Amino acid sequence: MNYRHAFHAGNFADLVKHAALLRLLAELTAKGPPLTVIDTHAGRGLYDLAGPEARKSGEAEAGIVQLMAARDAPADFSPLTRAVAAVNEGAEVRRYPGSPWLIAGALRTADRYVACELRPDEHEALRVAMRGRQNVRTLNVDGYAAAVAECPREGRVLVLIDPPFEKPDDYRRIVETLAALRRRNGQARALVWLPVKDLETLDSFLRDLEDEVAAPMLVAETRIRPLTDPMKMNGCALLLLDGPDLEAPLAAICAWVAQALGAGGGARVYALSPQ
Ligand SMILES: C[S@@+](CC[C@H](N)C(=O)[O-])C[C@H]1O[C@@H](n2cnc3c(N)ncnc32)[C@H](O)[C@@H]1O
Repeated sequence: MNYRHAFHAGNFADLVKHAALLRLLAELTAKGPPLTVIDTHAGRGLYDLAGPEARKSGEAEAGIVQLMAARDAPADFSPLTRAVAAVNEGAEVRRYPGSPWLIAGALRTADRYVACELRPDEHEALRVAMRGRQNVRTLNVDGYAAAVAECPREGRVLVLIDPPFEKPDDYRRIVETLAALRRRNGQARALVWLPVKDLETLDSFLRDLEDEVAAPMLVAETRIRPLTDPMKMNGCALLLLDGPDLEAPLAAICAWVAQALGAGGGARVYALSPQ
């Protein structure tokens, strides 16, 4: 477990993921019975962009710093830029909120949030970041197993799956987790983040999903450069399983990131049709 999200917090992929997540949460919490959100790979909750990791990678500088200065970003980014401004108290961008911070801030008092993080040091930072929030539980556990165990058998559930993809079995575990979640609760929804290096890996994952998970799915791809070097993270994709219709906002989010923060990439949003 070498992965540390502190190197990547606030990069182009976080902007896509977090703008989409906030848009989805706004939709799911606008009305309706209580929602349970389970975050399988939560990270530490709040990131220091002035720290050595972020400064070394420069990814936040090329990501959130550009978004905060942009005048042409679509309104779909506003909940994220507001959250970033709030943690920075209006000053320069030195802190970036991770998924736990954004989710906890978006939920209603009757909603619940379970945040899973496997690394003990990251989990300890997460526990501190979430201290005092009544409807939040943090668990120092494997998020794939916990997602299924913690998923209520009835009621509204959203599972965020955002692994580091350090291990080759992450793709398989995502498919198995989504299938198990839907068997346990037919209303379970999910948002999954995926890297895009080459198209074969993404396509083969999507084919497995179509074969094994019977639910409507939307895929939103953002490429920041052409896929000529499969060793690089050339983009990212989001998979929305059984979500509300977010095709237009996802298209706007992905297109802006590809165009404003990338070079020669592009964006596309498409539905999958399970067997
Ligand atoms: C991409 S980061 C998460 C970022 C976070 N979701 C956000 O948006 O702010 C992935 C995290 O998963 C943790 N991790 C790795 N394997 C895990 C597992 N099996 N279960 C739970 N957490 C895991 C890593 O330590 C890392 O903090």
